[in-house]
Amino acid sequence: MIENRTGTGHTRAKVILTGEHAVVYGEPAIALPLASLPMHATARHEPGPLALESVLYSGPLADAPEELAAPRAAIEATLDHLGLPHRDLTLSTESSIPAARGLGSSAATAGALALALADLAGRTLTAQEHFDLVQVGERVAHGSPSGLDARTTASTVPIWFQGGAMRPLDLHLSAHLVVADTGVHGRTRVAVADVRSFRDRHPARGAQLISELGAITRETVTDLRLDRPVLLGERLTRAHQALAELGVSSPELDRLQRTALDAGALGAKLTGGGQGGCLLALAADAASAGTIAAALRRSGAPRTWLHRIDARQPSTSQV
Ligand code: MEV
Repeated sequence: MIENRTGTGHTRAKVILTGEHAVVYGEPAIALPLASLPMHATARHEPGPLALESVLYSGPLADAPEELAAPRAAIEATLDHLGLPHRDLTLSTESSIPAARGLGSSAATAGALALALADLAGRTLTAQEHFDLVQVGERVAHGSPSGLDARTTASTVPIWFQGGAMRPLDLHLSAHLVVADTGVHGRTRVAVADVRSFRDRHPARGAQLISELGAITRETVTDLRLDRPVLLGERLTRAHQALAELGVSSPELDRLQRTALDAGALGAKLTGGGQGGCLLALAADAASAGTIAAALRRSGAPRTWLHRIDARQPSTSQV
């Protein structure tokens, strides 16, 4: 009986260290879950139409705006998968993950709701079931998602991802990440299509840039293992240049990248789909991370987050 129960589900935001876009073409990527940017979802029995309560919209799911098409598709697939009715349920989400900023908000939403519905039904989803359900929404959001976001939001540790498969990564790097919001919506579906169009128009250069991004990710694993923040920073900056040439940077991202480097970042790049969204900068220590974050905010970033990556269970805080 689900009448007297409340199901809960929790996921988290993600940040891609290296490999976005190239991962769509089979290259590897490295991504980190942001523990202190969690997504909490609940599902409870409530007579009436299937309803959603979230910061973006509250009301019957059938009337939800177009921007909620992705979670809606994932919710419907989850209900079918669990054999639950498409009514008499109210779902709610609570999170400060900004939407459309390359931090995996759509996958985190779909993932937390799938877990909440399974919990309500007294079921446990396997990792593969969870991934498949989140991917239903990601297909609506991204078109041809690599699965990186779906895997990372379900993980509590940094991951290496390639060809749909992931493995946990052990980090031994003493450094800090600064994530800065450009304040501009990034539309991953458009950015992914623009990279495809670049490859169609410039096949040789497109292939070269994608494989350079793949090589950067492979080298990054060694930097993470051997604690080489300076080399890692150089690679991140190189990755930004390659992504910019593929057409997924923006004037705001380029400006924030220059600001971060001028403020002492070891390297900086866009993260996620790009064309807006967030910038990621690598800082040698906490003091430098604070200085870089302050410079980024002075340069127009509405929000910044600091993330320590030198611990097994990294921590994030908003500043
Ligand atoms: C989006 O977070 C990451 C992209 O590589 C798209 C994908 O992996 O599906 C841009």
